Amino acid sequence: MDDRAIGVFDSGIGGLTVAAEIKKLLPNEKIIYFGDTARVPYGTRGDGIIREYARQDCRFLMKRSVKAIVAACGTVSSVALDAVKEEAAGVPVYGVTLPAAKYAAEKYPRGVVGVIGTPATVESGSYAKLIKSLAPECEVVSAACPLFVPFVESGMTEGEAVELIARGYIAPLGAPDALILGCTHFPLLAPVIARLLPGTELINTGECLARVLASGLERGNGGADEYYVSDVGRGTRELARRIMGGETELITASAE
Ligand code: DGL
Repeated sequence: MDDRAIGVFDSGIGGLTVAAEIKKLLPNEKIIYFGDTARVPYGTRGDGIIREYARQDCRFLMKRSVKAIVAACGTVSSVALDAVKEEAAGVPVYGVTLPAAKYAAEKYPRGVVGVIGTPATVESGSYAKLIKSLAPECEVVSAACPLFVPFVESGMTEGEAVELIARGYIAPLGAPDALILGCTHFPLLAPVIARLLPGTELINTGECLARVLASGLERGNGGADEYYVSDVGRGTRELARRIMGGETELITASAE
């Protein structure tokens, strides 16, 4: 038994989509979450600053003695996972990219897999590299969807405007066998995306990560979760409520 918590961090509150998937599979595990809401978004920033922020987020969790670090953020997992591993000093680090890439590569080794994410994630080619290394014959198509994050943050996850933007981003991908929702916020847009791609399997990165975590982790009974954010901004509580399906106490703390 290891009663220490699982540390989960994200650029903001969107990473609660990943925390929620972990809770579904590992309800007895304590989660300590840090969302860098004061500095979100990361996905439109340069790699250097994303890496620096990711290091700070990781240090925040390391100070609280965790048994694993989860980078829930697609952007951090794509461009800064090596920096997080350095900070974690031997504590196992889980990013969201590998579990989802592995799932897609194993299920569609000769198929077409789409990837949508922030500009940083898509420009890094992280998913395409991982999928190709596991399934060289799999075709990977991708699209950056920078407006999806502000839409979700402002509570707009349905309606004509969202559909119009979604169609513009997704139409160039054709009709892939699967589409990796490569950003914390995108599961909230899944109903709209599913209507645009009726025959495509939508891959939730948090779900894939939770399965990998559950198979590798020494279990424990850690007690009540703790959710820290660097700012409670306009809409932060509402977004947390929507993702977690109820009230979540948010504690304000600075990144380090
Ligand atoms: N958490 C980020 C991600 O999954 C989305 C928000 C941001 O750009 O920081 O890539």
